[in-house]
Amino acid sequence: MLRTHTCGELSEKSVGKDVALCGWVGSRRDHGNIIFIDLRDGYGLTQVVFNPQVRQEVHDIAEELRPEFVVKVEGKVALRPAGTENPKLKTGLIEIHVERATILNRAATPPFEISDKVSVTEETRLKYRYLDLRRLAMQNNLRLRHKVCKLARDYFDERNFVEVETPILTKSTPEGARDYLVPSRVNHGMFYALPQSPQLFKQILMVSAFDRYFQIAKCFRDEDLRADRQPEFTQFDIEMSFVTEEDIYALSEGLMKKILKESIGYDLKTPFPRLKYSEAMARFGCDKPDTRFGLELCEITDLVKDCQFKIFQDCLSKKGRIIALNAKGCGAYSRGQIDQLIEFVKEYGAKGLANFKVDKGTLVSQIDKFFSKTELAAIKEKLSGEDGDMIFIVADKERVAYEAMSALRKSLGHTLGLIDEKTFSFLWVTDFPLFKYNDEEKRWESEHHPFTSVHPDDIGLLEEGNALDKIRSRSYDLVINGTEIGSGSIRIHERKLQELIFKTIGITDDEAKMRFGFLLDAFKYGAPPHGGVAFGLDRLMTFLVGCESIRDCIAFPKTQKAFCPMTNAPSDVDEKQLKELGIKIKKEGV
Ligand code: AMO
Repeated sequence: MLRTHTCGELSEKSVGKDVALCGWVGSRRDHGNIIFIDLRDGYGLTQVVFNPQVRQEVHDIAEELRPEFVVKVEGKVALRPAGTENPKLKTGLIEIHVERATILNRAATPPFEISDKVSVTEETRLKYRYLDLRRLAMQNNLRLRHKVCKLARDYFDERNFVEVETPILTKSTPEGARDYLVPSRVNHGMFYALPQSPQLFKQILMVSAFDRYFQIAKCFRDEDLRADRQPEFTQFDIEMSFVTEEDIYALSEGLMKKILKESIGYDLKTPFPRLKYSEAMARFGCDKPDTRFGLELCEITDLVKDCQFKIFQDCLSKKGRIIALNAKGCGAYSRGQIDQLIEFVKEYGAKGLANFKVDKGTLVSQIDKFFSKTELAAIKEKLSGEDGDMIFIVADKERVAYEAMSALRKSLGHTLGLIDEKTFSFLWVTDFPLFKYNDEEKRWESEHHPFTSVHPDDIGLLEEGNALDKIRSRSYDLVINGTEIGSGSIRIHERKLQELIFKTIGITDDEAKMRFGFLLDAFKYGAPPHGGVAFGLDRLMTFLVGCESIRDCIAFPKTQKAFCPMTNAPSDVDEKQLKELGIKIKKEGV
């Protein structure tokens, strides 16, 4: 090695030692005769001092140094003079008195300063990702990600799981997003799909007697991107045979406990609380509630069914829902503050936000005349209203009412300071509906994927083909602080049940054969009962690192437009390549 230590390693214990360090020139301070440089590598910073009185030629080299030059310095470790220490830095008590220096490489002026204070747009950071990754914050994120992967691999290995790689060039997997397609050169007009997940392969591995499968798997989904979504992301993917939900919960909880303890020193309490989907919707208005705070929702549809308020009556006549929450202590909100919240819920499709102040034991509002005393008292009681509180109400279609109120709950949780940012609140959400209705296509479809098993108590409903919205599945999601981090289910392994599900969601025999024929064929030859789960590694990392964007935990992510500013992918290809693939591009507008 050209160096004896890294730039993040030396401390007062090494004072007097002769050392050699290599790294990049960070900030450079010229104090008259003496030049100070922060020498940086992937591990940290060390202050190095070029003093002409120690050696003139070394000082001459220091004069030449510019940001991001790669250098080697040799010299003695010394304590920094009293008063110049930097307690925030691991190496902040020492400096190197340089006796020899070599420029290993020169660097062009970087487009931005490599420091933890980012002053450029994310697009620029991604264009020069190799420089952005030099920042110590990014180094720490990716090193932690490596550690988390190793902890997971060890955890599964200790429990006899086998890591099996599944294909990337494959066939469409039913996870509900659009596929990324890859054209085939040898079979013109044919396409591979990149896997949205290894779902079908991991189920096939169960048929092949790999009863404990695990993979750190790349998944690809062409969907609208958000802060917690990437077109290409990574899952800890798991499948097991001869298991029930309880086995998956226990395995997952052990994994999360180990990861949080050994990566960031956080003690996680297990087992995690569980909430049925129906209860999650009723109490929080969403299937991935942030359970770090209360402010729970409360349905008051029945309490106001006879009120004189036209908007509520219109809603009731359309079979809508009336949902309220008690914003504790917000009774003194100004008109302006309330107007802002009205605009906020409108973004979620709500037409308005009724508000009642609790004052002298009763509800006061511009619209209180439309409600009887008994109705007002009943609302106050149901929401445990006390003087100084404010009750907000949305009346709308079920989906809109819950979405708007759930968003309002989250927003108030933040503004009222109800959220302990240092807590990780894990939660299993269970008993999801098996099907959901696709309004646009006017048909029922699977809520998760069509291999999800049915709740044993609801098989009768499925056989009758009735009340499809009431049928529960054996699926579960893992939620942290309001974000879905994982999802899985016990699968169907009996052919008859699988056929019934396909029939219910309108997948014909031919279509089933074309899309999943290989899985159905495999199932003919003795499929064991099985189930599994997958956790989004990138999402998990944003929690462990404590950053806002999933992109800060991925080495080379894409922008919100699925574009990589560093490689310029996606990009045009040669006419020759297209010809080989038998593809002709229709130019826009032509
Ligand atoms: P699901 O589609 O719910 O389930 O995905 C599992 C987890 O993967 C993460 N995730 C994503 N992370 C980043 N960007 C995305 N675009 C993205 N999409 C999903 C989430 C999510 O909870 N095969 C099933 C699992 C199973 O049934 O075993 C599946 O993939 O954290």
